[in-house]
Amino acid sequence: MKEKVNLSIFISGGGSNAIQIIEFFKDNKQINIACLLSNNQQSGAEKIGKTYEIPYFIFSKLDWEIQHPIEKYLEEKSVDLIILAGFLKLIPKSLIHLFPNKIINIHPALLPKYGGKGMYGHHVHQAVKNAKETTSGITIHLVSEIYDEGPILFQKKCKINESDDAALIGKKVLELEHKYFSQVIENYIFKEFKKNGQIT
Ligand code: GAR
Repeated sequence: MKEKVNLSIFISGGGSNAIQIIEFFKDNKQINIACLLSNNQQSGAEKIGKTYEIPYFIFSKLDWEIQHPIEKYLEEKSVDLIILAGFLKLIPKSLIHLFPNKIINIHPALLPKYGGKGMYGHHVHQAVKNAKETTSGITIHLVSEIYDEGPILFQKKCKINESDDAALIGKKVLELEHKYFSQVIENYIFKEFKKNGQIT
């Protein structure tokens, strides 16, 4: 039996969610942040990896296309669960099959609305604003083969005022992400990995 559940965090941007997750699990003996992966040289992956002494892999377009280098790296790091924290690439079927029900994504809106291709970051908040929504929020879900449509683990709403612009909506949503994402991950790990006896 493994004593730890190893997490890999995938990011494309600044990585503020990744930092929250790393801080949250810092002293946890059963949950370990094994590595960071990113498709983007300009992302926070290198800085965060160096700051927290977590191995990181900034992969190329070709690495992602052929997948083998990604799979090999995850295997080397004994990764059990993948966390998509602002990762903007579509997860290929091969990776979903390697990690069935073991990839968690956070989306900055209340799915099933405002999901799908092109719906990320600022675009989501602008669409919410354009539609004159009075609420937005976060969705944390398992990744399935259909973009933004896997089983939902958690949602939380926030209120939007008429005067809020897309940036302010984004700020409110990001606050929810930072507040709830790590706890939802921990709850899922206890449910999924305890059941299989992977952790006690
Ligand atoms: C977060 O708001 C996350 O929900 C969003 O990217 C941002 C990343 O911020 N993800 C998507 O839009 C995925 N469709 P961060 O790099 O500071 O954590």
